[in-house]
Amino acid sequence: MDYKRYIAKHLTIEGISEEEIAEAVAVPPNTDMGDYALPCFKFAKFMRKSPVQIAEDLKNAYPADEVISEVSAVNGYLNFKVNRKGLAKDVLERIGREGERYGAFDLGGGKVICLDYSSVNIAKPFHIGHLSTTVLGGALYRIFNFLGYKAVGINHLGDYGTQFGKLISAYNRWGNKELIEQGGIRALNELYVRFHREAEKHPELEDEARAYFKKIEDGDKECLALFDWFKELTLKDVNKVYERLGIKFDSYAGESFYQDKMQPVVDELREKGLLKESRGAQIVDLEEYGMSPCIILKSDGSSLYATRDMAAAIYRKQTYDFEKCLYVVAYQQNLHFKQFFKVLELMGKEWAKDLVHVAYGMVSLEDGAMSTRKGNVIFLEDVINQCVEKAYRIIDEKNAALENKADVAEKVGVGAVVFGALYNSKIKDIVFSYDKALNFDGETSVYVQYTCARAASVLAKAAAAGYKSSDEVCEPSAQEFELLKALASFPDCVQAAASAYEPSYIARFCVDTAQKFNKFYLDCKILQAEDETRAFRLRLTQATLTTLKNALGLLGIAVPEKM
Ligand code: ARG
Repeated sequence: MDYKRYIAKHLTIEGISEEEIAEAVAVPPNTDMGDYALPCFKFAKFMRKSPVQIAEDLKNAYPADEVISEVSAVNGYLNFKVNRKGLAKDVLERIGREGERYGAFDLGGGKVICLDYSSVNIAKPFHIGHLSTTVLGGALYRIFNFLGYKAVGINHLGDYGTQFGKLISAYNRWGNKELIEQGGIRALNELYVRFHREAEKHPELEDEARAYFKKIEDGDKECLALFDWFKELTLKDVNKVYERLGIKFDSYAGESFYQDKMQPVVDELREKGLLKESRGAQIVDLEEYGMSPCIILKSDGSSLYATRDMAAAIYRKQTYDFEKCLYVVAYQQNLHFKQFFKVLELMGKEWAKDLVHVAYGMVSLEDGAMSTRKGNVIFLEDVINQCVEKAYRIIDEKNAALENKADVAEKVGVGAVVFGALYNSKIKDIVFSYDKALNFDGETSVYVQYTCARAASVLAKAAAAGYKSSDEVCEPSAQEFELLKALASFPDCVQAAASAYEPSYIARFCVDTAQKFNKFYLDCKILQAEDETRAFRLRLTQATLTTLKNALGLLGIAVPEKM
């Protein structure tokens, strides 16, 4: 039952659609007044009546029915109390029926959403700065698929540019096969760092690097083979992390993929009279729009990040005919996205409006000292490992006899890292703290996971005792009703998360629902209750577990059976 819609259906406000009324119906923070409320202020001007009068009139016109048990008009609000038993029946039936699909809805009708996320750079460390784009993108990918869209996950690899010439030069000078095979990305990165150090003293190295890059571009076999090998090594390394985080991609078409697709873009820009020369470079002037120019070609004729992004956007539109193309990239790149979106618009691509920069804030570690062995790069894999290790220690302390401790620790540790990045509104900078992320009583994934394990344990005990849940419902107590309402709000929450590109809504839903379940669990006896009540409470417990699993699943967090 969609209560907002139901209420809207039974209200008539001339000149305002049912849709608009449904959108205006809200869940008040204080439920004493009602479970739903319609603020009438926004209609006052339009209806030429005071909000108080509007609420009063609407109340008098509202038909009595089974679903809404009470309608009241208070200070310009129209408040609704729902029939609690009706709500209980409704929600529990729906969750029972839909199971793993509870919360899903065919909103997308198969339309494509391209999602550009994680987008790592070849031969560069996969570091804590990639955490948010990776897990936000992964969550949005699952959320859109859950809502009937066809999400296309794209890892726009950073695999193009003079840095690869530098890397080959460094490898040929100081590297060898074994070193790289053993050291992976870390070893490659060290070579790269060394190149910069040496190039300060020997600037001629820069020329060598440029020559190597030119060779890659010209398809020189040896250079390409090295480059492909570096790419393979990088992907092997990051894939280990992706696997642990449950992250998938449909395409790894990176920047180099667009090498032969940029010339047509440059030609089109020129034809449309958008290109201008500025100090030897080719640019699109964006002064009129309050932005610095978008540089398309450098004075030596080489392309830029923006050029490749434009070619990529055009390619994606042609290939996938997306409804939207989302770029989950840090806010530091705001200008870059604004610029090339604008240039595409100026080129007359009407779909430029469907490109969205989903910007997010920075992640840093609370304990700065906890960085990797050398330098100040913090590898994401190290953060995950640390978190899993700490989780293991805590679990071992709390429940030494638990089976599969390592497996549980992996789920808890990985969950803590993911949840840490998803709990706050994405644009906020985050300071990640291992201790806070692993607090069993905090606003954390482990708290939610523990709640699930608690629910599962109650259900297992009930099954062992031969207790059945039933299709009947009881009149819900206050705690039960709060929990039921939370469960009922899940489908709305998923849709809101999708339209705001905010997986944090779902993360917050998890904590809120877990808190309500725990209140119910502590205040209401489940197993010791009388038959009918017990059956109802078991069903509510099962519904909570199903819903929380679905919610955590969308975020990419697994639920251990026991903890
Ligand atoms: N590789 C880039 C970086 O690390 C991110 C790429 C984001 N995607 C894009 N289409 N520009 O900064």
